[in-house]
Amino acid sequence: MSARGNFSSRLGFILAAAGSAVGLGNIWKFPFEVADGGGAAFVLIYLIFAFVLCFPVMVTEVAIGRKTEKNPIGAFNSLGFSRWNIIGKLGILCGVLILSFYNVVAGWAFGYFIEMILGNFEVGNSFGDFTSNVIKVGSYAVVFMLSTSYIVSKGVSGGIEKLAKILMPTLIIMILSLVIYSFTLENAMEGVKYYLVPDLSKLTNVNTIGGALRQAFFSLSLGMGALITYGSYLSKKENIVTSAAMITLFDVGIAFIAGLMMFPLVAYNLGGEMSNVQGGPGLIFVTLPGVFETLGPILGIVVGAFFFLLLSFAALTSTVSLLEVPVSYVVDEYKVKRKRAVAIMAIIIFIIGLPSLAGNGYSAFFTNAFNLPGGSSDFMTLVGYITDVLLMLGGFLIVTFAAYVWKKENLEAEIAQGYEGYKDSIIRKLLNFCITYLCPVVLALLFIMVVLNNFFGINLLG
Ligand code: TRP
Repeated sequence: MSARGNFSSRLGFILAAAGSAVGLGNIWKFPFEVADGGGAAFVLIYLIFAFVLCFPVMVTEVAIGRKTEKNPIGAFNSLGFSRWNIIGKLGILCGVLILSFYNVVAGWAFGYFIEMILGNFEVGNSFGDFTSNVIKVGSYAVVFMLSTSYIVSKGVSGGIEKLAKILMPTLIIMILSLVIYSFTLENAMEGVKYYLVPDLSKLTNVNTIGGALRQAFFSLSLGMGALITYGSYLSKKENIVTSAAMITLFDVGIAFIAGLMMFPLVAYNLGGEMSNVQGGPGLIFVTLPGVFETLGPILGIVVGAFFFLLLSFAALTSTVSLLEVPVSYVVDEYKVKRKRAVAIMAIIIFIIGLPSLAGNGYSAFFTNAFNLPGGSSDFMTLVGYITDVLLMLGGFLIVTFAAYVWKKENLEAEIAQGYEGYKDSIIRKLLNFCITYLCPVVLALLFIMVVLNNFFGINLLG
């Protein structure tokens, strides 16, 4: 074990990275992005992007991290290209911004755990009142930031690994059980159709394509160096390609079954009228409590509370990875003690998150003062859009850097460590093609398309 700390095993790394990937992005964000993006067409494009565009970025991030054993800024310095450390700087900024609002939503999930214990199934119908109560949701957000800080202060192998190990399997079983239950409800099949049978005309829609890519990056924790940081704790003996493949499959798989659980429930609530689907950040918080209520008072409380508890834990392994990035930077580069770095960062991030906390009903200004082409938006949605495009930009810059500046031969050599026979494999040819041509070109084009569409209302696809 090096002085920086290492994952104790390959499984440890995979679990921690999967723990970072699997979170609110899969269970809270994915279903509402599907609803906003038009259903099954979105799902189809999302799946393609995750494997063709995101997986190569993931391999590249992990390889850069493992090669340098550094945080996302230090990594570029140590490869000798300190000008490119702007990627790391953007990444850290982006991580700070994401955590600032993510922590608020995680607080909601935790708050719902409490509401479920109290048997308050009505909370779904008064979600707006719930989020406007800043004292309450603010306290939950404090609890969440403290829990995250506690785990990060223990270091990677101590805290993160252990948590992920128990949590993931339980969460999957829970969601699968709910999938089965949701299928027994009236109109369930309308939901499944909406989720799985694509409306082909939507395949060329800017919001569908752009949303799918934004979601894929966010869900896989890519584009801001989180996986450079986790890769920096990975042993040279491990196979980066198979590890990344497992993380991708795992994350995409969980999002997929979360959707399979949600849409039958939504269809049940809407009486099968899927044209009335409303997306937006309230989707799971509005839909689920009523469904738990149908299970009867006792089972409803047990299942509901357990569900939101697991969701909170899934969020926790993600907030941990988000906080780890700026903390590892401060620890590595300024030689600050880990505990102190955690405290400083947590306080700064919490403060940056206050407008997101207030912008869900409490403060009229932060709730709708921001003009986007799609209509007026709240602060949290705006920050989410900004960080989403920063992730795409980061992903583009990372592959471009690896292919053309660091050079693909060096990247290959790093990937080949722990992967016997990589040099002669088809995988190598495919990955090279993606990293040198496909990803840089397609990511650049999609980045431009999304920025023009989401911030300037210019639709390149007509
Ligand atoms: N992927 C996590 C989720 O789906 C969120 C997350 C954690 C993240 N770390 C990240 C997103 C780094 C982008 C970058 O909930």
